[in-house]
Amino acid sequence: MRILSGIQPSGEIHLGNYIGALRHWVASQEELESFYLLADLHAITVTQDPKALRERTLSTAAVLLAIGVDPARSALFLQSHVGEHAELAWILNCLTSFSELQRMTQFKDKANREGTTTLGLFAYPVLQAADILLYQADHVPVGEDQKQHLELTRNLASRFNTRFGATFKIPQAAIAPAGARIMDLQDPSKKMSKSGASPDGAIWLTDTPDAIRKKIRGAVTDSGSEVKASSRKPAVTNLLTIYSILSNKSVHESEQEFAGAGYARFKDALAETLIAYLQPIQNRFRDVASDRGEIVRVLHRGAEKARAIAAHTLDAVKQSIGFLPR
Ligand code: TYM
Repeated sequence: MRILSGIQPSGEIHLGNYIGALRHWVASQEELESFYLLADLHAITVTQDPKALRERTLSTAAVLLAIGVDPARSALFLQSHVGEHAELAWILNCLTSFSELQRMTQFKDKANREGTTTLGLFAYPVLQAADILLYQADHVPVGEDQKQHLELTRNLASRFNTRFGATFKIPQAAIAPAGARIMDLQDPSKKMSKSGASPDGAIWLTDTPDAIRKKIRGAVTDSGSEVKASSRKPAVTNLLTIYSILSNKSVHESEQEFAGAGYARFKDALAETLIAYLQPIQNRFRDVASDRGEIVRVLHRGAEKARAIAAHTLDAVKQSIGFLPR
């Protein structure tokens, strides 16, 4: 069984990334062969400042190591260090119809935000399919927003296999039942994201205790005062989801804990839980981030391990489609 997942090094890592995906990366590596990539080729589908991209790439790698991605167990690498990703993406481009990419909701959202659209942004999900299929991954731990991209990946894999013979494993999205869509603290109708409308809508994993207290206290709530999860209380439900996952309790237990307490006391407890949860991660982050040479070495070792498998799959693909051997 093999796991693959990725994150774009295009901004700070937020609590939604962590709860929806990254904590599962850490748990999965205990038992399964794991490949985790920093999707820098994906990051440049929108404008990036080169210096900022370099810094973000290093700090994203440092956060991943700080949360517990273990380079002795998992290959942690940069997408741009393994040329096979772009090459397989091209081949898959030639199997992908315009209309199926036009249906991708993330493309529509981002294209609206960016104003002008590039071919790279349009073809983004095909590159993601290449990331996954190169490693013959069985499971792809992601948040709910990646579901449609995973469906496309499965479709492209089946299409290729039907046309050219069994070449790719059909991967499964691993979307956890709880926390797969953490919402913005200022607008609970939108997912928490790197580019939310309000700077207080997202908790960054590197936020100071004061920033966390301010953001949680200022988080919007719903009418009433009961700390209860329900479809009529999306804001409180989101906060309860975060609290229950980080404190390892069920939502029901968390509701009981704050029965009659009101929103303010619940928010104080949530803020302190978050601060205590993030403190060891932040301590490790400072250690890891101070040794850039070691981060680079980890990424190079990860790329070497990844390349061996990626090259093997790409050779099989080229043979299947009728390219002559080199
Ligand atoms: P990215 O960088 O946007 O997000 C990284 C991971 O975090 C999850 N996530 C969330 N989960 C719960 N609640 C949220 N509010 C939230 N926001 C983000 C995402 O679902 C994702 O799992 N295209 C991918 C990166 C990628 C990739 C891959 C993923 C590139 N190649 C191959 C899987 C397999 C992306 O932009 O994730």
